[in-house]
Amino acid sequence: MYSPIVMDHFNNPRNIGVIEDADGFGEVGNPVCGDMMSFYIKVQDNVITDIKYQTFGCVAAIAVSSIVSEMAKGKTLEEAKKISKKAAAEALGGLPQNKMHCSNLGAEALALAIADYERKHQN
Ligand code: FES
Repeated sequence: MYSPIVMDHFNNPRNIGVIEDADGFGEVGNPVCGDMMSFYIKVQDNVITDIKYQTFGCVAAIAVSSIVSEMAKGKTLEEAKKISKKAAAEALGGLPQNKMHCSNLGAEALALAIADYERKHQN
């Protein structure tokens, strides 16, 4: 039921971990399934130079975090903000209908990490 790309990212998650001195942090949870996702970003000259995450969740949630981290790394903040749940799901070769909410977590956690960075660096 999962695409080979999903299984690859689940079995070999990219960029997993924590950035202790992150410039931005975002965390979301889904109250229905109980899954949680946290993203950490480092930003230099408006570009996401490093990104890591911790995900406690299903196969799709872990694959989504991994692909979103790959999509965001090296992007400007403006480009990274455009990474949608749809784009993440498409990059994974699609997700089963009942797993589409898992892709929301990735897009939302990244957006919150960017918002956190922007709040701290307003001037
Ligand atoms: S089942 Fe909820 S994030 Fe996957």
